[in-house]
Parts: sequence; structure tokens; C-alpha cells
Amino acid sequence: MINSLNYIKEKLYGIVPDVAVVLGSGLGSFTDGLEGITIPYAEISGFLTSNVQGHKGSLFYYEKNDKKILVMQGRFHYYEGHSMQEITYPVKVFSKLGIKKIILTNAAGSLDETLLPGDLMLIKDHINYMGNNPLIGKNDDSLGERFPDMSEIYSKKLRQIALLCAKECEIDLTEGVYAATMGPSYETPAEIKMLKIMGANVVGMSTIPEAIVANWCNMEVLGLSLVSNYAAGVKMGHLSHSEVIGAGQIASEKVKKLLNSILENI
Ligand code: HPA
Repeated sequence: MINSLNYIKEKLYGIVPDVAVVLGSGLGSFTDGLEGITIPYAEISGFLTSNVQGHKGSLFYYEKNDKKILVMQGRFHYYEGHSMQEITYPVKVFSKLGIKKIILTNAAGSLDETLLPGDLMLIKDHINYMGNNPLIGKNDDSLGERFPDMSEIYSKKLRQIALLCAKECEIDLTEGVYAATMGPSYETPAEIKMLKIMGANVVGMSTIPEAIVANWCNMEVLGLSLVSNYAAGVKMGHLSHSEVIGAGQIASEKVKKLLNSILENI
């Protein structure tokens, strides 16, 4: 960890970012046109490289409205065959860097007919249906405790700010529950029915490992889902990854606007 920490610190001239942002599928264009410092994952020891379509694979640091922001342009996924520990390594590095807030974004399928493709949902809570937990293994007491409380992973304070920002930007934002499966296959209609009964509003294949680790490290977490499609069986039709990327692109202006407003106000 010391190598990656020192490398990032050196690249950022010792600056401690106020907030980290993890960009999900289709949201890679968020940093387009911004001036800042790019650090490719390939240069950081311990970071994996992300190959999924729609993800760039670097850290990007920039400053705006007096806020120091570190963006993960693309995340690591469990379905890529990496361990939970590997995919959450960047969050641990962010915590060690002194970053206290993290915004996790993703693309997700809707289980809810009132959440349409292109809509945004603020994550209020989650259901870990990935069959694994990133905190399994020896506990690193310097980061967090062995049995961390998870009763408010997604900071109420940050959620209130996000809701106010959405109102100001005239963007519909409702709170809901995010469920994650391990993927990479999309769910079956029967699985979606089950997740709906369990209380999920949207489903994806990411975010939860990072949210658990960030909460364990005492970081304030905000989670934002961009609805890219109706989950299997909710409406007629088949699911495709290009649909997920496409919806991200269509809604990206809306997401950018909201994210910028949130970043200004947290
Ligand atoms: N299921 C799981 N993950 C997803 C989906 C989905 O329907 N859409 C985007 N990510």
C-alpha cells in the first residue's frame, strides 16, 4: 500500500482531495474537457486495469469551486474475476490518503415501473446479493474495525444535500434500495421478482463492495444509480450491455449537472 500511496501523493503534489468520485458504466465522459492530473491505473501498484467498455482506467484529479476532486475513471468489478479485496483496494488507498467522502455512481436495471431508463436514483440502502464481502480476511485495524456497523452506509447528511441539489437543478431524484449480484450475467425474471420482494428498487453488479469498505473506513458515502434499463421481466425485451452504455450517454448531461452541483455543495 505504501508504494501506491506515495506514488499518488507525489503525483498530486501532496494535496489531499476533499472527495473521491467513482464513475460507473457510461459516465466516463464526466471529466471530458476538464483540466487536471491523470494517473493511469497501470502506473499505480496494487491497482488493477479495467477493460470494460465505457471505462477509461485512470485516476483524474481536478479542482473546481474550491473543491479538490479525485475521480476514478472506471472501476474494477468482481465479475472480471478479481477478488473483493482487489476491487476495493482503491477505496482503502483513498482513505489512507485522507479522503473523507466518496461518491459512488453506477448504471443499474430498474425493478420499479416508476423508475424509467434515464432516471436517477439516490441509494438509501443496499442489499448485498453478491455472495461475498470485501472485509473477509484479516482485519486491517488501521483502516476500520472487525465488525463494522452498516446501519447507515449512505450518509443521511450527504443524501439530504444531494436531494436539495437535484431540486435546484430540476432533476427528479428519488431514494431507493440498490441490490447487487455478482454478474456478469444479467438476472433472470424470477431473480428480479425475488429481489423486488426483498425490497430492491434497482439492481447492478458493483458499488456495494466499495460502499462497505468506505463505510468501514469511516468515509461518508453517497451512491447514485443511473437507470439504464428495466431489469429482466419488468418489461418486454432482452438486455444488452450496449443499451446500458447508451442510456448512460443519453442521461450523462443530467448526471453531470447533478454531480457538479453535489460536488459544489458537499
Ligand atoms: N442488472 C444488473 N446489472 C445491471 C443492469 C441489470 O439489469 N443494468 C445495468 N447494470
